[in-house]
Amino acid sequence: MIGDSLQRALNAHLEFWKLRRFDSDEAYFHWQRQTLSADDLSILHRQIEQKRQGTGAAEIAFYDATAEPRILPVLYSQRYEYYLTVGALTAERIGRAASVLDFGCGPGILTTFYARRFPHVSFLGVDRSTTSVRRAEEQAATLGLRNVRFECLDIVERRPSVTVDLVVATHALVQAEQDPGLPSLDWRTFERDRDAAVQREFEERTGIGPRLDGLCSLLAADGRMVALEKTRQLSRRVPFQRALAARGLVQTEPSRPVRYNLVEEVAEDGPFYTMRKNGDATVEWNETPEPDEGSPFSPSAGPPAAGSDAPLYENHHPSAQSVWQRLSGRIVIREQTRSEADGRQLHAEYGQFDEGRYVYCANTFDRRQLVIVEPARAAMLEAYYQEIVGG
Ligand SMILES: C[S@@+](CC[C@H](N)C(=O)[O-])C[C@H]1O[C@@H](n2cnc3c(N)ncnc32)[C@H](O)[C@@H]1O
Repeated sequence: MIGDSLQRALNAHLEFWKLRRFDSDEAYFHWQRQTLSADDLSILHRQIEQKRQGTGAAEIAFYDATAEPRILPVLYSQRYEYYLTVGALTAERIGRAASVLDFGCGPGILTTFYARRFPHVSFLGVDRSTTSVRRAEEQAATLGLRNVRFECLDIVERRPSVTVDLVVATHALVQAEQDPGLPSLDWRTFERDRDAAVQREFEERTGIGPRLDGLCSLLAADGRMVALEKTRQLSRRVPFQRALAARGLVQTEPSRPVRYNLVEEVAEDGPFYTMRKNGDATVEWNETPEPDEGSPFSPSAGPPAAGSDAPLYENHHPSAQSVWQRLSGRIVIREQTRSEADGRQLHAEYGQFDEGRYVYCANTFDRRQLVIVEPARAAMLEAYYQEIVGG
């Protein structure tokens, strides 16, 4: 829960940046079309596509374009609630730091907020997008901020000559947004192999390794770091956490999932990590799936209402695995496990148990699904199984 005064200050700050808050896509896209030309939009869409391919140059071109004064308020307004949420989580942890580095600060929307909120703390924002850094400097000057400066650099190529108490890295460490991460050992488990070569490859292709090495070298001996990336999926969360842990970072509080709206779309993001360099580990790194809402199968729940084609039970969460393991009298009728060249697996199974028929599906990217029907509807479920195995 964000405190009222922090929330008010963040809203006022985002207003200074001319960001607007929308809760309807229709209203937001109407404003976008009014403000930007069709050409602007098609250039931006092309740049977004190129950025998805993951090259550094395409990413820089995209962030340069979005930092233009005409474009910035429109594009970044979609992230209004992101700024409220992440800005508050970070601000609450700046605490007693005397110096803070905001890595990948973009146009400095949050950096200038932190600098306003903590006038006695000295802030450095770094980013490799020239236009973003220019915008950050202009806005900091307009606000009359004397405790913040910005440097345009790529942390992998050049490190600023500072030592800081706190590094902030929000949505800046992982370059490969589409990277699936690390598969589990096989479809039966959520566990990941500890293979140094595979981990190194993940850190290289997502850019996390070289960025973290650069940032950790700037941290004071007992320095802290807060980080948030799109690593909610267990397959990305595990190698990301291992990359943090391998650099001597320990958690000082449990990580927390972050949820905010991108206008109407809900973003399940994070987790948000709060860490210290070289401290005693007070909080373990958690490599298990998040607790989910899946409920156990209960035969007493009774058949679905007449005319409904709903199954007796359906679970699309990790907990489907333990429900499937506990089905009494389980007999597999058909099953197939497909392995891809890169070691990924998809297992599908059609079977019977004391209370009915089931289809169970699991893969090495943590997907689990269990569907149960009463024996009379076995044919329907078998057809579903065939659909999954592609027969
Ligand atoms: C999604 S933006 C995030 C901006 C800001 N941290 C926030 O939370 O809103 C990511 C920023 O990281 C910057 N960035 C990515 N890799 C970088 C690197 N190696 N060195 C410096 N900046 C980098 C990009 O240029 C971009 O501006």
